[in-house]
Amino acid sequence: MSRIIRIFDTTLRDGEQCPGASMNREEKLAVARQLARLNVDIIEAGFPIASVDDFEAVRLISHELEGPIVAGLARAKEEDIDRTWEALKGAPRPRIHTFLSTSDIHLKHQFRLSREAALKRAVEMVMRARGYVEDVEFSPMDASRSDPSYLYEVLEAVIDAGAGTVNIPDTVGYATPDEFGGLIKGIRENVRNIDRAIISVHCHNDLGLAVANSLAAVLNGAGQIECTINGIGERAGNASMEEIVMTLRTRRDFYEADTKIVTEEICKASRLVSSITGMVVQPNKAIVGANAFAHESGIHQDGLLKEKTTYEIMRPESIGLVQSKLVLGKHSGRNAFNTRLKEMGHELSQEELNKAFERFKRLADQKKEVYDEDLEAIITDEAYRIPETYMLRYIHVESGSDINPTATLEIEVEGKALTKVGKGDGPIDATYKTIVAITGTKSRLVSYDVKSITGGTDAMGEVMVRLEEDKKTAIGHGADTDIIVASAKAYLNALNKLVYWKKIKGPENKREK
Ligand code: KIV
Ligand code: ZN
Repeated sequence: MSRIIRIFDTTLRDGEQCPGASMNREEKLAVARQLARLNVDIIEAGFPIASVDDFEAVRLISHELEGPIVAGLARAKEEDIDRTWEALKGAPRPRIHTFLSTSDIHLKHQFRLSREAALKRAVEMVMRARGYVEDVEFSPMDASRSDPSYLYEVLEAVIDAGAGTVNIPDTVGYATPDEFGGLIKGIRENVRNIDRAIISVHCHNDLGLAVANSLAAVLNGAGQIECTINGIGERAGNASMEEIVMTLRTRRDFYEADTKIVTEEICKASRLVSSITGMVVQPNKAIVGANAFAHESGIHQDGLLKEKTTYEIMRPESIGLVQSKLVLGKHSGRNAFNTRLKEMGHELSQEELNKAFERFKRLADQKKEVYDEDLEAIITDEAYRIPETYMLRYIHVESGSDINPTATLEIEVEGKALTKVGKGDGPIDATYKTIVAITGTKSRLVSYDVKSITGGTDAMGEVMVRLEEDKKTAIGHGADTDIIVASAKAYLNALNKLVYWKKIKGPENKREK
């Protein structure tokens, strides 16, 4: 019988800390819902003291989500623990995750605390958190560079104080698999009361060893792994959830362990996180990269045609990678459309559904065949939307080999229609300069990407732009069979996110971690 390893997903907290990956609360809720469909055990929804938006996101997820435990991160400080509890209050199963460093490097240079003072504070804060919730997790930050005997002492004390999970972070991604496995073994053998807690691990990927270290920990008794979708996170990221889950599933024979993850939801989760954060998945990334199941060599293809297991250790269907399906056509009705969306895991509000259906009808008129991927693009475009300060009403662009590209746009700005004509170096430059002239915005275009959603010259193009203003970045998406229209929509979507961010940003909305 396989041991069940708990999956603690920190995409919304550690994952969100990586540069440019910040998400607004609606986007976080969409990711949290997908994590629930994946059946993760714990969702770390954010770091409530860090900003008003983090607090609100944790609160929203706590209220809206059923199923997984919802955790909030707190430094070992009274105000952090109290604020985290405030945010988590509505959750059916709340967890407070508190942390304090145990390495001498951190204690001396960052916290300016003696070992004794740090131990005392860790115990007091675990007890304070236990005053609010039954479920408390403690992380001795930089554990892998800490003196093991001091680490054992701290773990023993926080377990006595009421921590039910002790999480061992390799904060700077310094450990190697043998060493990290040895550390977990040492904890099991030297912490007197360790059988009263679950050992968790949290590995960073600075040396590319986060997954290997997490799996070495499983072999040595860890019962929970902290990880993120697509491995996003601080610096080189965290252990990637899909790699951990599929390794345990595929090599259950070796690890004698598995998870409760619904692996068929992996692809969808990977695409959602990539599209929301703008962090593109490298094509050769294990499990979810575009080439992960593409067999190019003739010998491999020959073997596969004869027997799949010759070169395939996992079935693409097991991660939800299915052949593009022709789903709907221009005669399909609202019911068929909604049923298909539900099958794909999207529950839309009535208003979102109306908008998406309108878009689908227009697309089906332009494009004979509408695929699942097209529907995903419409959903990304229409759902999880924030209030639209700027709305595209009309666009006409002229360009060619010997004319000066000119764009005419009508944009509704807070209910008022404004029209301008502008020129640029190309059709997209002309469009973007005209948008800037109409909206009077000052953001910088950091990146622009366009890709075709399905094959064929009538395919929809999906544009993703990254805009920056006041050190805040926003990702905008737009999809259309006309890539200039898609480009305009993507730019306006990013501008709307920046406006939204400014509106919800309160005076205390600052990041501390
Ligand atoms: O990397 C780390 O040490 C962390 C802790 C807060 C768990 O993210
Ligand atoms: Zn971390």
